Amino acid sequence: MTTNPLHFPEGNPFLEDNLRPVANEITDVHLKATGTIPAYLDGRYLRNGPNPVAEVDPETYAWFAGDGMVHGVRLRDGQAHWYRNRYVRSTTVAHALGERTPRNRFRDGFRAIGANTNVIGHAGKTLALVEGGVASFEMTDELDTVGTCSFDGTLHGGYTAHPLRDPESGELHAISYSFGRGNTVQYSVIGRDGRARRNIDIEVNGSPMMHGFALTSNYVLVFDFPVTFDQAAAASLSMPRRLRKPAELVLNALIGRVHLPDPITIAIGNLAPGNKGFPYSWDNDYPARIGVLPREAPATAIRWFDIEPCYIFHQANAYEDGDTIVLDGVRHRRVFDQNRRDPIEGDPAMHRWVLNLLTGTVHESQIDDRLQEFPRVDERVVGRPHRYAYAPMLSEESEGPTGVILKHDLHTGNTIARDLGPGKEAAEFVFEPASADAAEDDGVLMGYVYDRADDRTDLTFLDAGTLETVGQVHLPQRVPHGFHGNWVPTGL
Ligand SMILES: [Fe+2]
Repeated sequence: MTTNPLHFPEGNPFLEDNLRPVANEITDVHLKATGTIPAYLDGRYLRNGPNPVAEVDPETYAWFAGDGMVHGVRLRDGQAHWYRNRYVRSTTVAHALGERTPRNRFRDGFRAIGANTNVIGHAGKTLALVEGGVASFEMTDELDTVGTCSFDGTLHGGYTAHPLRDPESGELHAISYSFGRGNTVQYSVIGRDGRARRNIDIEVNGSPMMHGFALTSNYVLVFDFPVTFDQAAAASLSMPRRLRKPAELVLNALIGRVHLPDPITIAIGNLAPGNKGFPYSWDNDYPARIGVLPREAPATAIRWFDIEPCYIFHQANAYEDGDTIVLDGVRHRRVFDQNRRDPIEGDPAMHRWVLNLLTGTVHESQIDDRLQEFPRVDERVVGRPHRYAYAPMLSEESEGPTGVILKHDLHTGNTIARDLGPGKEAAEFVFEPASADAAEDDGVLMGYVYDRADDRTDLTFLDAGTLETVGQVHLPQRVPHGFHGNWVPTGL
């Protein structure tokens, strides 16, 4: 067990309550469980999130910039075999723990910020993912860090936190952005062999933050929204006070205009200390639009559809329907405008955008007005018509987590809300079907649920049909609220 005596002064909500980092890395092979763990689950539930390895300044700490820590539970034969939590060993983390830095290729992206956002399995590897030009990391099955990730040297300069796997081909599609890419973002396709087979630059209007994107059977949807690289914020994060103004002027002349060579981008990126502020902000002058590009077409074939200004971190899914494309996702009126530390600022609620490929128009409507985030669908319908979407509800008062999980039925328009009970705080839930050909909601939802009264966390399984609790694995320590998780079946 690695112990790390952390102390965080008060004053930053992202270091308090169940966002308070945990200090210890634990392996527990004697887990207690109640109820039923479905026997068809053979694999690992993994989830990544920020967990600063050292003390940070509560004045400047931004949740998005914390060092990454993955919490995982191994399941097989209806039993929970282990729980492990491990820091992703970026340079900062390895140094803080007094360890040798794992494999660390310069071109794989800059390393000041941890790979803290998502964790997936692909081509036999476990990958801790992050975005914005920051290096993603490969981990072992038991969550030890192997080193930075470049998909066998086929993709450099950082990846994305939100790739989407085509359910038929098994390929990973992604849009990657970085302040060094000029006015372009990168569309890549990683094959089942774990290597990039396609990699093109798509022109946009500047240097936007593209957290998510969407996929249909034939198209990739590019979210060109008004959150852009903030040169002043970046200069203040990375430079001594006397150099900030000149650095800002230089960045103003370059960012969103000039495609910097990877080594320059990475060298600049490495100046930014982790566990501090966030260099992207709302930009009133940047138009909001969705690009539609045939998956295998050249970048110049993209068509842009203007939408009302907003931000979508997370789409639920998209699909083609005749001459339209339907996109469901959580719409934020705005983000990173008044509050740079907090991604929840504009009443996130589930919306639908219908893009008409004949007229070039977009029709937007609200599916559900409750505050919610982290929507997920059955991974088998990614890019195909979906009936259900699941999302944890957020508190109207605090905009923080609640114990309520929402299940949207997009055929009937009904939403089921399941309250897990007082003092419970639920995060993203992922769906796994009972069998390969099971119906769309025949399976389980799983995710970490924090119990405020007992200050502990359970990996919780819900029947996706009814949202009733099926079983729980009781974890040996609290899992701080984080970002994204996935079910990684054995052999993926
Ligand atoms: Fe995300």
